[in-house]
Amino acid sequence: MAKPHAQFVCQTCGASYPKWTGRCANCGTWNSLVEQLPEPARDEKSAVGRSQLSGQLLQPIAMRDLETSARETRYSTGFPDLDVVLGGGILAGSVSLLAGQPGIGKSTILMQICAHISRGHSVLYVSGEESASQVKLRALRLGADSDQLKFASSTSANDIAKTIATGDFNLVIVDSIQTLTIAEISSAPGGVAQVTNCGNLIIRAAKASNTAVIIVGHVTKEGTLAGPKVLEHLVDVVLNFEGDRYGGFKVIRAVKNRFGSTSEAAIFAMGKTGLSEVKNPSATLLAERHNTDGSIILATLEGTRPLLVEIQALATPTSYGYPKRTASGFDLNRLNLLLAVLERRTKLTLSDKDIFINVVGGMKLQDSAADLAVCLAIASAVAGRKLAEDYVVFGEVGLGGEVRSVFRPDQRIAEAKKLGFKHAIAPATIKDSFVIPVSDLRETLIKYVNER
Ligand code: TYD
Ligand code: MG
Repeated sequence: MAKPHAQFVCQTCGASYPKWTGRCANCGTWNSLVEQLPEPARDEKSAVGRSQLSGQLLQPIAMRDLETSARETRYSTGFPDLDVVLGGGILAGSVSLLAGQPGIGKSTILMQICAHISRGHSVLYVSGEESASQVKLRALRLGADSDQLKFASSTSANDIAKTIATGDFNLVIVDSIQTLTIAEISSAPGGVAQVTNCGNLIIRAAKASNTAVIIVGHVTKEGTLAGPKVLEHLVDVVLNFEGDRYGGFKVIRAVKNRFGSTSEAAIFAMGKTGLSEVKNPSATLLAERHNTDGSIILATLEGTRPLLVEIQALATPTSYGYPKRTASGFDLNRLNLLLAVLERRTKLTLSDKDIFINVVGGMKLQDSAADLAVCLAIASAVAGRKLAEDYVVFGEVGLGGEVRSVFRPDQRIAEAKKLGFKHAIAPATIKDSFVIPVSDLRETLIKYVNER
C-alpha cells in the first residue's frame, strides 16, 4: 500500500494540495498553506458507520425550563467606557482576545485593569514576552501593588491552563498567545497549530473553572490577527485596539461580543501614568485646529458616540507620471472611489495632482458619513479656498455625485452645537434648522467652496 502523503491545507478556505504553493489557487490568499500530516490510516467508511451506531440520544429540555448556568458575575475594568464596550464589564468565565499592534498599549491597559480588579479579586498576570523586572517597572508606574495580584512568567500553555483550571484566580491575563507553546506540538510558537491548540487549551480551562481570561494577540501590519482566524471564532469577545502608536487617540472596540453589542467604542489617550479615557474627545481633537484650506470638520460617530474630527487634505502637482494618493486614518480604496466621483461629476481635475488625506488625532474612520467631508476637503485644498469656520460636514456620497443620508444625524448635530458650531452641511433629508441641506456634490462645491 502506498505511504500516505502530507497535505498542504489552506488556513483560509480549507482547500488542500499535494504540494506547497505560495498562493492558494482556490481563494487567492498568499502564504496560507500549512503542512498537515495525514491521520493514521483508517477506513473512513467504517469510521462513519461506527460513529453512527455509537451515538447516544440527546435529551432536549424545553427552552423555558433552561437554567442560566452561574450567577452572572461581571468585573468592572475601572474604565466605564470599556465596561460598556464589554457589555457591562468582564464576565466571569469568559475568554476575550485583545488584539492590537505592538506598542499600542495592550500590556499597559491590561496592567491597569489588573490593578483595579485585584483590589477585590484575585488576579494573575502571565507574561511570556517580558521579564519579571520589566513587568514590575510598569506595575509600579501604574500603581498595581495589590497582594491579590500575582505574576508568573511562562510560555507553556500546558502550565498556564493547569493554573487557570485550579480556579484560584478570578481573572487571568495571558500576554501573548503568540509566545505560547503546547508541549505535544513541535512547531514554532506563533504558528497556526500552536496558536489554535494553545487557545483551545486555555479556553477549556477557563470554562471549566469559571475564570475570566484575557488573551493578548498581536496583529500584522495589515491589521489582521497574526495566526489563524480560527482563534477569533473560539473566544467569546474580540477587542480591537487601534490607533496611532505615537501619540493621538487609541480606540478599543468590540468586533465580536457574545455578551454585549459591538456598536460601542472606548477612546483612550496614553499619558505618564498609563492610559486614561478621554471624556471630551471632540474638544481635544479640535484644540489645535488652524482653519486653512483643505481642513474640514466632520461630525462622525465612534461606536454610538458622536465625535468631531478634523479632516485635512493636501493637493500638490504630480512630479512624475502617476499621481500619488495617500490616506492616513481613511480607507484608501474609498478615497480612490471619491476621487473618481469628484473628477467625473464635478469637473475638478485631479489626475495631475498628488492627494494626501489625514484624519487628525490618529482616528481611523469607519463611517460612510466621512465621504462628503473628504470630498470637500479635497476640493478646498485644490481650490485653495477654505470653508467657513463654524461649519461641520457629514454625508455619504454616491457614485452619481449625490449626497445620501447617514445614521444618527441628531447626535452629530447635537455634538456640533455643543462645541459652538453654527451650521452643518448635511444630507437634505434631515429636517433641522441647523442643517444646510445639500443633495448634490457638484452644487455643494460650487456654493460652499469654489465661489466664495
Ligand atoms: P505596551 O503596553 O507595552 O504596548 P503593547 O503591549 O501593546 O506592545 O506599551 C505601549 C507604549 O506606551 C510603550 O511604548 C510605552 C508607553 N507608555 C507610556 O507612555 N506611559 C505609561 O505609563 C506606560 C506604562 C507605557
Ligand atoms: Mg506588550
